[in-house]
Amino acid sequence: MKILAFSNQKGGVGKTTTVQNLGKGLSNLGKKVLLVDLDAQGNLTDSYGIDNQSLNKTVYHVLKGSESIKNVIMKSQGVDILPSNLELSGADLEFSSIPGREFLLKDALEELSEYDYILIDCPPNLSIMTLNALSAAHKVYIPLQTEYYSIKGMAQLLDSIKLIKKRINHKLELGGVICTMYDKRKNLNKEVKDIIDEYFEGRVLNTQIRENISLAEAPSKSISIFDYKPNSNGAEDYLNLAKEIIEREEQDGNY
Ligand SMILES: Nc1ncnc2c1ncn2[C@@H]1O[C@H](COP(=O)(O)OP(=O)(O)O)[C@@H](O)[C@H]1O
Ligand SMILES: [Mg+2]
Repeated sequence: MKILAFSNQKGGVGKTTTVQNLGKGLSNLGKKVLLVDLDAQGNLTDSYGIDNQSLNKTVYHVLKGSESIKNVIMKSQGVDILPSNLELSGADLEFSSIPGREFLLKDALEELSEYDYILIDCPPNLSIMTLNALSAAHKVYIPLQTEYYSIKGMAQLLDSIKLIKKRINHKLELGGVICTMYDKRKNLNKEVKDIIDEYFEGRVLNTQIRENISLAEAPSKSISIFDYKPNSNGAEDYLNLAKEIIEREEQDGNY
């Protein structure tokens, strides 16, 4: 079982789009997948056709300890989802005085053993929720928009990862950087890609996710890119990403 967190404290970089479509891609390749929505916006939950506002049991109740994780996990389109909604937005404050508040998700996931991959969609900050994701994860993958200002803020994220590895999760590794919204016609994208390659020395995945409008449209249809536009660049890229991640993770063996 591989637990992979998708994190970047910047919003709008493709975290949720990646968890949605990579999750479905891994499932299409025969893997048993659980997607964890740790963002109070509940976009990942919605992208699978689950109306997050109508839910009365979510990841919030699991973290709080008032529901068992197995009772809250939902099924949609071949994957399992631990859903989220706005109720999670007060959790940082609510959990702030609980001892071990950064291990709530890790503890909950320990009840599960049936998955090949658990993908965690993080909120756009370095909050207690993100800390929970990084404590539970074996690897953190960073979706990074191929734009100049994306590189700023990377030092802060890498420092946090180092600190979390040192203090609360010795196993945590940087799985890799996923370049998103790439447009090779834009010179700037190429330049920035070179800077990212240099900065992350060999940790950038070979698969780049190209800018593709179908990827932005699919969530409003509550389906993945594979069901919305199977012949699009987006479907091709996310299938390749799923294959590359399986290859990388299988090389690393089981934890
Ligand atoms: N490769 C892409 N091409 C075009 N639009 C994209 C792509 N990836 C994501 N988007 C769109 O960009 C916006 C931000 O993506 P999202 O996955 O929600 O980012 P995050 O979860 O990091 O905030 C969304 O509207 C999404 O549909
Ligand atoms: Mg998101």
